[in-house]
Amino acid sequence: MTPPAVFTGWGSALPSTIVTNRDLEQRLDTSDAWIVERTGIRERHVGGTVADLATEAARNALEQAGTRPEDVDMLILATTTPDETVPHTSSIVHHRLGLGGGAMDVNGACAGFVYALVAAYGSLAVGARRVLVVGADCLSRITDWDDRSTAVIFADGAAAVLIEATGGADPLHGGPGLLSHDLGIDGSAHDLLYCPHGGTLAMDGREIFRRAVRATVESATMALSRAKVAVEEIALFVPHQANLRIIEASCARLGIPPQRTAVVLDRTGNTSAASIPLALCDALGTERIADGDLLLLSGFGAGMSWASAVVRWAS
Ligand code: COA
Repeated sequence: MTPPAVFTGWGSALPSTIVTNRDLEQRLDTSDAWIVERTGIRERHVGGTVADLATEAARNALEQAGTRPEDVDMLILATTTPDETVPHTSSIVHHRLGLGGGAMDVNGACAGFVYALVAAYGSLAVGARRVLVVGADCLSRITDWDDRSTAVIFADGAAAVLIEATGGADPLHGGPGLLSHDLGIDGSAHDLLYCPHGGTLAMDGREIFRRAVRATVESATMALSRAKVAVEEIALFVPHQANLRIIEASCARLGIPPQRTAVVLDRTGNTSAASIPLALCDALGTERIADGDLLLLSGFGAGMSWASAVVRWAS
């Protein structure tokens, strides 16, 4: 059992350049109607570096929390597009913000943020007080902009949360924090979505779609069962933002209505590790989350990896 913990700050960062479906129509054999119907994406943000976006998102989270950077005990940066092979991008973010404690990158592709969040609660269990968790990716850098099957999907962004240990009841007895998680991977499917060094993303879209719905439903169901929480008790489902049809198919099978689901991909595209925290921050910005709410977070992605968590929100 991880200790009770609250979210004291959150923030996001998106590049200022917006690429709409109409922009893509100008350079690719595609259409706004096709992209909206098949993916739900209308526009996406493109540009910047992972370090830039992650730093901005993390700074916003720290400012909201009113926490001094040196009082952070750990930075965990989920990214699948590190700016350089060496060093890990979190070292740059750590330096720019003047954080205390350690820093590491987690590469769990689009499931990376939930992997990082679970690792953050683990850090609290072994004595950390405050952990900054950031999801940040610049997929536009590894996307072939002449390939319509990927160029319409992938984009850039970052979002961060600051979690802080607190006193009182543990999460399984009404306290805030992590009630359960489910992490998994089927590495035999690693070649369904890949990018070699110096290359661009290639994927088998149809097969990923099929597996994504199954992985999301099975992983979310496992996390709910471990938390002993019924799906009706979930105030907000925050899924990975890859394709609106994947989200809708998963929600239909899980029994979660659209009004209890966070969707931001129409404005962001698929931002990999940033997608779940971006959707979370968007929901917080529109006051869809209140203290005491149970959240179900669920991601899937390259690997093929998946990760779900049930969290009782308190700020
Ligand atoms: N614009 C117009 N037509 C396109 C297109 C585009 N951007 N991309 C593909 N097409 C065409 C295909 O060439 C195909 O044409 P054909 O029937 O003449 O062969 C047709 O549209 C249907 O292709 P298909 O791949 O079956 O479409 P789809 O409904 O499966 O949608 C994806 C394609 C990629 C949007 C969808 O499979 C998907 O989202 N998969 C999951 C990908 C994902 O989430 N990856 C990240 C995981 S984290």
